[in-house]
Amino acid sequence: MGVIVKGLGASLPEKVLTNYDLEKMVDTSDEWITTRTGIKERRIAGEDEPSSKFAIAAGKQAIEDAGLKPQDIDAVIVATVTPDMMFPSTGCIVASELRMGDIPAFDISAGCSGFLYGMSIADSFIRSGKAENVLVIGVETLSKITDWTDRTTCILFGDGAGAAVLSRSDEEGILAIEIRADGSKGELLYMPAGGSRMPASEYTVKNRLHYLKMNGREVFKHAVTKMPAISKLALEKAGVDIKDVALFIPHQANQRITVSTGERLGIDMDRVYSNIDRYGNTSAASIPIAWREAYDKGLIKKDDIILLAAFGAGFTWGAAVVKWRKP
Ligand SMILES: CC(C)(COP(=O)(O)OP(=O)(O)OC[C@H]1O[C@@H](n2cnc3c(N)ncnc32)[C@H](O)[C@@H]1OP(=O)(O)O)[C@@H](O)C(=O)NCCC(=O)NCCS
Repeated sequence: MGVIVKGLGASLPEKVLTNYDLEKMVDTSDEWITTRTGIKERRIAGEDEPSSKFAIAAGKQAIEDAGLKPQDIDAVIVATVTPDMMFPSTGCIVASELRMGDIPAFDISAGCSGFLYGMSIADSFIRSGKAENVLVIGVETLSKITDWTDRTTCILFGDGAGAAVLSRSDEEGILAIEIRADGSKGELLYMPAGGSRMPASEYTVKNRLHYLKMNGREVFKHAVTKMPAISKLALEKAGVDIKDVALFIPHQANQRITVSTGERLGIDMDRVYSNIDRYGNTSAASIPIAWREAYDKGLIKKDDIILLAAFGAGFTWGAAVVKWRKP
């Protein structure tokens, strides 16, 4: 018995925010943002568009792509740091809206590595016999926790969702998944208020503590070492050489992180997927959005080996080696 990726989906808000729009909001320039990050524009959810809206659309597309019905799904895992509410989970909202029945549904918080964490849990659910088909969604509306007066963070992030259906199969598709965390670095990328440590108050609102805070340089430094290292480990566990990887889809955090990771892995840039210019960093959603896009463009063929890697808040990081089994 093996586990395969049977379907992929993605959903993005319609509204586009360009670097030129940002020039009017904070002291920045298209030139600075482009050279430091590779980002040209990003999608932004409307006021009446919560994360669940994009999660449902992406999930629906992934289920259809898998040739399944929502009722065939045995569990829903939503990776997000911007759920609709603290509780109930966005996973419960998705399962209910898609009329999936009384199946387990929950959220996981693993920052930008969330989708790989979700895939790892889904893989274990299926291998242990608890489920046949699991829907994993990565979704963020980071614009809602972005401080639009802070030029060091507001230029980086975007909104959207991506999803995958993992299914039991006679073939093997998930060759390896490795996930890791180091909580001692938590405050290098975090949202201070709104939880039990610092509940919402007049003080927290006045001091802008409900927004994402980041030490960009430190995050950068760790991302460019952890992503290649865990990718190498996952490749080793899968018994795959980097030269046999057809496509590397890294978390889209910063084009400089992507290039540096590619160089450290020794893979040519024409086999490294990037769409950060159009969507910015969509955190847990970035890998499945990019994956679906590469698939739509015909860049992935049956039996191709795909490498995925991510790094994010926690710190968390991870990598997966997947053999594409769809025609
Ligand atoms: C955020 C990031 C793009 C900043 O790039 P950097 O090259 O490290 O830039 P620095 O922070 O050193 O800042 C350089 C200068 O540009 C300024 N600057 C920062 N943001 C700016 C902006 N949007 N526009 C113009 N100038 C800006 C800084 O104030 C600093 O000025 P100074 O030298 O006078 O102090 C980069 O650190 C990064 O991408 N980090 C990782 C972030 C990330 O991926 N997070 C999510 C992880 S999943």
